[in-house]
Amino acid sequence: MAKSALLKSSLAKKYWMALTGLFLCLFLAGHLVGNLQLIFGDALQFNQYALFMTTNPAVKLLSYVTYISILFHAIDGIILTIQNKKARPISYAKENAAANSAWASRNMAVLGTLILVFIVTHMVNFWAKMHFDEKMPLQTTTIDVGGQKQEFYLTTDGGYMPKMQIEQQAVVIKNRTEFYDAQANVKLKDGYKDLHKITFEFFQNEQFGLIATILYVISMIVLAFHLNHGFASAFQSLGANNPKYNGLIKGFGKGFSLIVPLLFAIIPIYIHFFAK
Ligand code: HEM
Repeated sequence: MAKSALLKSSLAKKYWMALTGLFLCLFLAGHLVGNLQLIFGDALQFNQYALFMTTNPAVKLLSYVTYISILFHAIDGIILTIQNKKARPISYAKENAAANSAWASRNMAVLGTLILVFIVTHMVNFWAKMHFDEKMPLQTTTIDVGGQKQEFYLTTDGGYMPKMQIEQQAVVIKNRTEFYDAQANVKLKDGYKDLHKITFEFFQNEQFGLIATILYVISMIVLAFHLNHGFASAFQSLGANNPKYNGLIKGFGKGFSLIVPLLFAIIPIYIHFFAK
């Protein structure tokens, strides 16, 4: 390929890396706000939020854009790294800017790969359970009825479904969340998937809860470094180079790449060490 064509295609790739990267930052900010409910909200609030996020058509559409952005960002990044390597087979002296940017991009590839591994395992542990696990629990609560403790499922209409009804087979659960009158085969109510319980059980697990918490914190440190460099190069790739705003953009990037991973890291630490 001619050098100019290579440059052109690699510029286009950098442009798309920047766009998908910035979109993923928006996702991260939203995901963080939702997940902070694990600290500041109760189980019902978090499960209501999870239900909204998995059923609202506009949010579903945004989710698909997120998955595509992750794939695109990762594949584009791998291709760019290979192109960079091919274009500069000989190492430059340390103070050479081109060599430094090649080093940064190699570094970004390693950090990005680690984040991809994190995202895949993270989605297997939470997202896949929420969407596909037949054994995903429904949220229950214990209520004192005439001096006797009874267990109820919480239902999306703000009511309850006695667990006893299911045990006595008067009510059956269909499609994982729907309560049906067993005889009339009529839908009565919907339950909540208990994503709050799944998340707490994960980080409080006796065997792997501590190691999972540590791995999450390490992943957030990796994310912080990736975001820090990513922000700087994204604005460069998009051509945002106005002396008036450069300082502001840099400051925002630095703040975002520190605060967002830090708050994410606090969530598993809180659940493992401090929550009931
Ligand atoms: C450390 C704290 C975090 C917690 C407690 C957490 C928790 C969760 C949970 C419970 C889900 C399932 C939600 C659902 O399917 O409705 C989820 C999905 C997801 N998480 Fe996280 N997450 C954390 C950090 C992150 C980070 C740092 C990233 C990215 C680097 C990430 C990427 C994702 C993605 C891509 C999904 C799928 C989202 C979708 O379907 O729209 N998460 N997370």
